[in-house]
Amino acid sequence: MADKYILELDSNKHEIAMETKNVQVFYGEKEALEKTSMQFERYKITSLIGSSGSGKSTFLRSLNRMNDNVPGASVKGEIIYRGLDINKNDIDIYETRKHIGMVFQRPNPFSKSIYENITFALKRHGMKDKNELDEIVETTLKQASLWEQVKDDLNKSALALSGGQQQRLCIARAIAMKPDVLLMDEPASALDPISTANIEETMLNLKDNYTIIIVTHNMQQASRVSDYTAFFNMGKAVEFDETRKIFTRPKIQLTEDYVSGHFG
Ligand SMILES: Nc1ncnc2c1ncn2[C@@H]1O[C@H](COP(=O)(O)OP(=O)(O)O)[C@@H](O)[C@H]1O
Ligand SMILES: [Mg+2]
Repeated sequence: MADKYILELDSNKHEIAMETKNVQVFYGEKEALEKTSMQFERYKITSLIGSSGSGKSTFLRSLNRMNDNVPGASVKGEIIYRGLDINKNDIDIYETRKHIGMVFQRPNPFSKSIYENITFALKRHGMKDKNELDEIVETTLKQASLWEQVKDDLNKSALALSGGQQQRLCIARAIAMKPDVLLMDEPASALDPISTANIEETMLNLKDNYTIIIVTHNMQQASRVSDYTAFFNMGKAVEFDETRKIFTRPKIQLTEDYVSGHFG
C-alpha cells in the first residue's frame, strides 16, 4: 500500500512519463533514501524540495542511473520507464540517458564552440547532414531562450558566455538528444536572479515537449514553475501532491513548517 500522503496519479486521467516503485538508495551501508514510490506526469514539471541532505539529488540521480557513477552507491527497487524497469542490470544506461537527460547544478559546457556543444553528441551518434545539424542548433537554442543572444556567434567558445547563458546552452545540449524526460538538479542555484528568471521561463517553454523533474531549494521557484511538488526530509519523501496544495494546505505539519520557512 502506498503512503497516504503520496499522491497516486490516476493513469486514466494522467499520462505517466515514468515512475518509481520502492526506490531505496544506500551509500555503503548507510540508507540515504527510504523506499520511495512516485509518479511523474508527462508534460508537467515536478519539483523535489527539502533541506540540504534530505535525499533530493540522490533520488533524482537514480532516475537515469547516475548513481551508477557514484562509488559505493546502490539503488534498489524499480524505475519504470515505458513499461521497462530501467534499474535492472542488463539495461543499456547510455541509451537510457538519451531518453532521460540531465542538467547539473553548475553549468558544464565543453570547451568548444556553442555550435559544437550542441552537435558533438549528435555527430558521435552518426548524424552528418549539415542542414539537419544547423536546424537542431537553431531549434534547441530557441527552446532554451538563447538563440537571439548567440545566433551571430555560434562559433564563439561556450566558455565566453555568462553563467546563465552557459546553463541555457547546457539545456539546449541536453534537449538536442531529444530526451523525453529532463532531470535538473538545482539548475539555477549558481545564477543571479535575472538568469534564474530566464531559466524558469525556459522550463515553462520546455513543458510543451518534455517532462521535467527539478531539484530546487528555492521554494518560490518550486511554486512558480511546478505542477507537482514532493517534499523530502531526512531521506524520506514525506509528502507529494499538486504544488498549490503543498504550498497552501499541506497534509503534514513537517511540510507546513518547511514551506512556511520555519526550518531548512
Ligand atoms: N556520494 C555520496 N557518498 C556518501 N554519502 C552521500 C553521497 N552523496 C550524498 N550522500 C549523503 O546522502 C544524503 C542525501 O544527500 P543528497 O541526496 O545529496 O541530499 P540533497 O540533494 O537533498 O541535498 C546526505 O546524508 C548525504 O551526505
Ligand atoms: Mg542536492
